[in-house]
Amino acid sequence: MSQLKELLTKELSDLLDAETQLTQALPKMAQAAHHPKLKEAFEKHLLQTRGHVERLRASFEALGEEPASETCKAMQGLIEEGSNTIKEGANMDPLAADLALIAAAQKVEHYEIASYGTARGLARQIGVRDCARLLSQTLGEEESADFLLTAIADPLVQQLTLDDMNADVNLDKGERKTQTARGRRGVKQERDAA
Ligand SMILES: [Fe+2]
Repeated sequence: MSQLKELLTKELSDLLDAETQLTQALPKMAQAAHHPKLKEAFEKHLLQTRGHVERLRASFEALGEEPASETCKAMQGLIEEGSNTIKEGANMDPLAADLALIAAAQKVEHYEIASYGTARGLARQIGVRDCARLLSQTLGEEESADFLLTAIADPLVQQLTLDDMNADVNLDKGERKTQTARGRRGVKQERDAA
């Protein structure tokens, strides 16, 4: 096997494990999400991810290799962080909890986008067009999922900004002078001064 093909099969093996891990994690993300659009996005991406597993198997076939899977430690770490985010979110404002979930999910998407980009480049270089085409399709879906998460996050960030401003106004009226809230105002003043 050429060195490039060996590199490609290694990337595909890593991805096959990463995607399989994700099929276990996404239902938990969907369950933890508060906003219906976020829940829907995770559920849709779960269906896509099952398709990504199938496409990876087909990519191995296009290469003339048996599908193989190698533990993806990076995805283990990202999913572990995601689990912590879900736990912490239980004690947070739903908006903030959803934004934290989106942050965790986008880290996963970016890892996949990097991996599929590299794998597609290798497939093109060694001239296995069918394999490159399959990887391109999945890469496109990962990028769309990432864009969708940003689109869902934007109005949530705006809403949280308004909530923070209202909390500050209440503080100025002397209604909620708790230590935590005073700390929050301090952070805002620092932001405004920056
Ligand atoms: Fe995927």
